Amino acid sequence: MYPITAKEVLADSIKKIEVTAPDIAKRAKAGQFVIIRVSSKGERIPLTIADKNEKNGTVSLIFQEIGKTTLALGRLNAGDSIMDIVGPLGHPTESVKHGTVVAIGGGVGAAEILPVSRMYRECGNDVIGIIGARTRDLVILEREMTGSCGRLFVATDDGSAGRKGFVTDVLKELIEKGDKIDLVYAIGPVPMMRAIANLTKPFGIKTVVSLNPIMIDGTGMCGACRVTVGSETKFACVDGPEFDGHQVHWDELIQRLSAFKVNENNATENYKRVCKCDQHA
Ligand SMILES: Cc1cc2nc3c(=O)[nH]c(=O)nc-3n(C[C@H](O)[C@H](O)[C@H](O)COP(=O)(O)OP(=O)(O)OC[C@H]3O[C@@H](n4cnc5c(N)ncnc54)[C@H](O)[C@@H]3O)c2cc1C
Ligand code: FES
Repeated sequence: MYPITAKEVLADSIKKIEVTAPDIAKRAKAGQFVIIRVSSKGERIPLTIADKNEKNGTVSLIFQEIGKTTLALGRLNAGDSIMDIVGPLGHPTESVKHGTVVAIGGGVGAAEILPVSRMYRECGNDVIGIIGARTRDLVILEREMTGSCGRLFVATDDGSAGRKGFVTDVLKELIEKGDKIDLVYAIGPVPMMRAIANLTKPFGIKTVVSLNPIMIDGTGMCGACRVTVGSETKFACVDGPEFDGHQVHWDELIQRLSAFKVNENNATENYKRVCKCDQHA
């Protein structure tokens, strides 16, 4: 069992927990993730390592409650434990000086872009951050991102914080203004990552995306996380999760992500009915 040492509510349905996992904390690098099980009967889900504290032997996980497992995780508090945590998994983000890097996180993707932005800054890049959310209450980690980026832009769909619009609108403006951009790194909902890749492609701006296909074992054995990149089949858990955004077969990824929608919705509804977590979450 892996104890939760701290818990924080960052926004409606977005929570942060610190979990004791000293071996993972020692080795984790930006861009990597863990696979956890909340309980012995629970499914395995991947979550990005948002931060780590080697001294305390903890890793921070930030997650959005969207279904059965994330709702169950969100009900745990400091002092509770999760059943399993495996990692660090996936290739770390390469610590390279590119020049100017635009680091984009959409929704809970802000949690995933934070360690990447920090790392790029530490290795000498000029980092421009863009975080996006539907509305002000869902904007997370603005302060932390401000500290990790030379410039930070916030975009909300309804204009309640930062500028009104999508992260792609901000990126488009930067490109059109003639800002020299050497790398765009994006993480968030698949339609957002696809829109970013489509925007940067005609300008020839290198674009890395961190993909979020369904994962089960995280070791390249089960095939669940299969994605097509260029003409090659890749397993995001061991070959990724980062890939060239201009090469990703987006339609296939969207179709594979929705393969279990009916089962997922049923599981979530059953879970809510049984634990009445709507009232307690
Ligand atoms: C490498 C990686 C890193 C991730 N990091 C984060 C993170 O830091 N924070 C965060 O909130 N989310 C993250 N996710 C997504 C997270 O794993 C899903 O939100 C979670 O599995 C949903 O499970 P659920 O039972 O709550 O919801 P469900 O209702 O079961 O599923 C909702 C949706 O989540 C996705 N999903 C479901 N099961 C899985 C699975 N086993 N693997 C991947 N996706 C799944 C599907 O798109 C599905 O339609 C990451 C995904 C990947 C692949
Ligand atoms: S999660 Fe099983 S092969 Fe990647």
